[in-house]
Amino acid sequence: MTDKRKVRKAVFPVAGLGTRFLPATKAVPKEMLTVVDKPVIQYVVDEALDAGIEHLIFVTGRNKGVIEDYFDIQTELEQTLKERNKNAELTLLAEILPKAGTTSFTRQQAPLGLGHAVWCARDIVGDEPFAVLLPDMIMRSEKGCLKGMVELYEQSGGNVLAVEECAPEQAHKYGIVGVGDAVGDGFKITAMVEKPPAGTAPSNFFINGRYILQPEIFGILETQERGAGNEIQLTDGMLKLAKQQQFAGYHFRGETYDCGMKEGFILANVAFALSRGDIRPGVEDQLKALMAALK
Ligand code: UTP
Repeated sequence: MTDKRKVRKAVFPVAGLGTRFLPATKAVPKEMLTVVDKPVIQYVVDEALDAGIEHLIFVTGRNKGVIEDYFDIQTELEQTLKERNKNAELTLLAEILPKAGTTSFTRQQAPLGLGHAVWCARDIVGDEPFAVLLPDMIMRSEKGCLKGMVELYEQSGGNVLAVEECAPEQAHKYGIVGVGDAVGDGFKITAMVEKPPAGTAPSNFFINGRYILQPEIFGILETQERGAGNEIQLTDGMLKLAKQQQFAGYHFRGETYDCGMKEGFILANVAFALSRGDIRPGVEDQLKALMAALK
């Protein structure tokens, strides 16, 4: 049966070690690094809220307490802002504060892999479909990526993965899907291959870090053996679920910045700064000058 219950909850796995960003991530979670003036995680939470998500579930780990603080009130700061009549700043803080009771935090005690991190959210998600958003990936597009996925899910039910096109010669770096018949505005996923050897990829559509999954994934992840990198892999669990349930692909057409990588993080800062009327004038000419000096 195709399950089309509303997608109300989103899981943000934020328990990874962020080794590619050391030494910064020794004390600051990579999700709290700022793109212009907001932490990376805020962009991803905004995408989820825009898609109608009502409950945010963070799977955290050691050294990630600051993420919990970020989504709470900061009484002393707000008092000081009030005393100084900093009303714009107070409004800004009020706007990003999630409604009471709409956030949950659970801990992944050891970084055993993305599949294990998602499984740690099982009791909070319960028996309903849910979204997973990899918090390193910031998407930019007219329609939010998860919003488009929810629209497809309303047509297709089952599980939905967002995919993007890569150059065929880059396919070995990604989780690649096989493309089948149309399902609503998307397509049926016929295969999922993690980092296919060169020349063997079933397509050039890669899984970009946004998922809508049915709760049956939890039972599978519970017994999932360790896979690549000796970690419990979400893809391995999805492959098993795909034997019982449909997976549809949503072709996301927009920009994606992988902020778990230095290059992606820097590009995100430049792109978002240039799209902001208050920042662009201060950086555009100097960026051009820097580029010209490179030639
Ligand atoms: P990454 O592969 O980016 O791993 O995980 P990482 O540890 O965060 O970063 P590097 O490679 O050491 O620099 C993809 C997503 O899965 C989460 C991460 O937080 C990230 O959002 N994750 C990964 C967990 O929550 N737990 C894990 O055990 C592994």
